[in-house]
Amino acid sequence: MRAKVATCLVIVIVLFDLRVAPVKAHGPQSVDRRVDQLLSQMTIEEKVGQVNQLFYFRQFMQPEMVEPGIREGKIGSLLFVTDPATINRFQKVAVEQSRLKIPLLFGFDVIHGFRTVFPVPLAMASSWDPALVEQAQSIAASEARAVGVRWTFAPMVDIARDPRWGRIVEGAGEDPFLGARIAAAQVRGFQGQDPSSAGRLLACMKHFAGYGAGTGGRDYDSAYISDAELYNVYLPPFKAAVDAGVGSAMSAYMNLNDVPATGNAFLLSDVLRRQWGFKGFVVSDADSVGNLVTHGFAEDKADAAYRAFTAGVDMEMSLPGINTVSMAYATSLTKLVQEGRVTKERLDDAVRRILEAKFKIGLFDNPYVDESRVAAIHNNPEHRRLARVAAQRSMVLLRNEGNMLPLVKGDPKVSSIAVIGPLADSKRDIRGPWTLADDPKSAVSVVEGLRNKVGSSVRVEYAPGVDIRRVYPSIFDIMSGPRPAAWSEAQKVAEFDKAVSLARASDVVVMVLGLHEEMSGEAASQSTLDLPGRQLELLQTVSGLGKPVVLVLINGRPLDISWAASNISAILEAWHPGAEGGNAIADILFGDATPGGKLPVTWPRSAAQIPIYYARNLTQQPESARDFKSRYWDIPTSPLYPFGYGLSYTTFSFSNLRVSKPEVKLGESIEVLADVQNTGKRAGDEVAQLYIHQRYGSASRPVRELKGFERITLAAGEKKTVRFTLGKSELTYWSSAAKGWVQDPSTFDLWVGADSTAPLTTTLKVVR
Ligand code: NOJ
Repeated sequence: MRAKVATCLVIVIVLFDLRVAPVKAHGPQSVDRRVDQLLSQMTIEEKVGQVNQLFYFRQFMQPEMVEPGIREGKIGSLLFVTDPATINRFQKVAVEQSRLKIPLLFGFDVIHGFRTVFPVPLAMASSWDPALVEQAQSIAASEARAVGVRWTFAPMVDIARDPRWGRIVEGAGEDPFLGARIAAAQVRGFQGQDPSSAGRLLACMKHFAGYGAGTGGRDYDSAYISDAELYNVYLPPFKAAVDAGVGSAMSAYMNLNDVPATGNAFLLSDVLRRQWGFKGFVVSDADSVGNLVTHGFAEDKADAAYRAFTAGVDMEMSLPGINTVSMAYATSLTKLVQEGRVTKERLDDAVRRILEAKFKIGLFDNPYVDESRVAAIHNNPEHRRLARVAAQRSMVLLRNEGNMLPLVKGDPKVSSIAVIGPLADSKRDIRGPWTLADDPKSAVSVVEGLRNKVGSSVRVEYAPGVDIRRVYPSIFDIMSGPRPAAWSEAQKVAEFDKAVSLARASDVVVMVLGLHEEMSGEAASQSTLDLPGRQLELLQTVSGLGKPVVLVLINGRPLDISWAASNISAILEAWHPGAEGGNAIADILFGDATPGGKLPVTWPRSAAQIPIYYARNLTQQPESARDFKSRYWDIPTSPLYPFGYGLSYTTFSFSNLRVSKPEVKLGESIEVLADVQNTGKRAGDEVAQLYIHQRYGSASRPVRELKGFERITLAAGEKKTVRFTLGKSELTYWSSAAKGWVQDPSTFDLWVGADSTAPLTTTLKVVR
């Protein structure tokens, strides 16, 4: 592998000895002038260097493999370097030894935390709390920036309507409105007002666009998306990120309507540049340029470089030494420009955007990182505190029959707790995928969290019960290390029995079931939503003992829990809640925190219902039709839990839904108001949600669409009024009949309530 990497890098190492004055880091020049000045000094090869980004894996690469390339101006950016000393070392070569002294841009996947691991993005979206999301990403940014990372490949804003797709865990779920709010919050969190200011990063919205719609939920597979679906569903979170000032974008891997996203001029030029006026730069996904050949789209690597570059991909991300398709730009662009196939203007245009970003994040002025400050920033206790709050606020209580939860500390009926399941004491899985820069030992498992909570007076014992594993191992095992060996047949029997005996001997059972971290995420699609291994059997056996059983789910996607949903009294969806997950779960189970999260996805009964999402169109033969119903004859059409659903330890009622004006003209806005009351005996959070339905117009509109939400805290008995603005932007949509954006005069049904099935309704008339 090492030899291969070296061979590939040698290809781009060509020596130059042109002595030109460097552009001064300081001075009154505007970014434009400084960029112009640099561009005027650069050779074509140096320009091509700026559009070349390489992975650097310390696990199997040596600094000497990239340093010559940096010195010769052949590499503009590196990703996956997270050691501050190595970052400074490489940066020194760039700014002190390369001809033009252009600093390197260090990028990394800061997805849900860096040193401090926050809940996975799907969980963060379940908080329905954009301010919290923003705060969490600002902490992640500060920790990454502390080591010298200046650019994150986040947020991932792909809408996901197929939970078989493993990367559903990385996004905000199925809904464009929620997705847009969470996308913008993440951009603000990473970049702040100014990505050059202390503790901030350049953000990168990805994967542009339609990656979540891969056929069959298979990662990387082709997506076929109509224009209406693209504009109304898949693009809004990207547009929101652009409006929030996101500095870069990543092109997606898959084919969109037969044109790979990385060579897709419609997406990258028409939509992103012309329609939206995006000023940042576009990076490819890893090797997605060279893979235009694999897609059966480009003739060869040079053609791939040509197609991606002219479509609008400014920088190529490459995995040299691993893939032969790597470094299409580095190996072909110079010639393409010399031959005139790619214009010098296009090359300048791409390099300008990249240099502008480097200036704007302050890289020229401050290329190095202060290694002495890393520990203090990483060990800030406030980060762990917020990770715990974020985990509490992300969890979704799915069931709580007979108010089984919260458990009461000191209750003699809770003097021994059996914590059972393959994930119950796992520090690795509590964190979730994309945790590559933390210390896994610092994560708190559920067993640990419960022990921390109840102290020594309560016996907390653990048994895994079953062993779970992927049939096809994950590539990410390279980073996190392989799992322990599979159990023998004898061990399987013994461990199962041990778990059941432990349950029998305890007052309360907490079953912790779900998925390993590598069972969701990239290259982690799954065909069913079943709990892997014998987890369901274990749950059924333990439940048969008649003990109080709480099911805690640790997972990165909805699972088939139909049996549990009618047989287990209390079910808490914890997702992969991050490093403080175990403590936060204990907080919720014992009522020190009250659950208030809501599902950002429709929860299917089984994979057979996929695709299933709430914002579907009406059918002429609905379930209420007398006959010829649009439904399966063998299973219900309704989901197990609707979008927006989640319980609390208290109860809420919605009333007095009203609009500031019952009739408005096109383009006018109104206010929608409703009263929300905490009707229970303890304080808690409710997420008030506004849905609309347009009854008629130039095209059919979904049965319901989310158009507003607010998470509020109410003391017992307290009542508050929530208000939402409904105006042109909420009532406009892309109509396939009109082939453009329209706002129709129509009658609208409005609902405000606790989830997407909220019954409280009124109407609004929009007239010309
Ligand atoms: C591939 C993934 O698709 C993308 O999301 C990620 O940012 C890059 N690899 C870099 O790690």
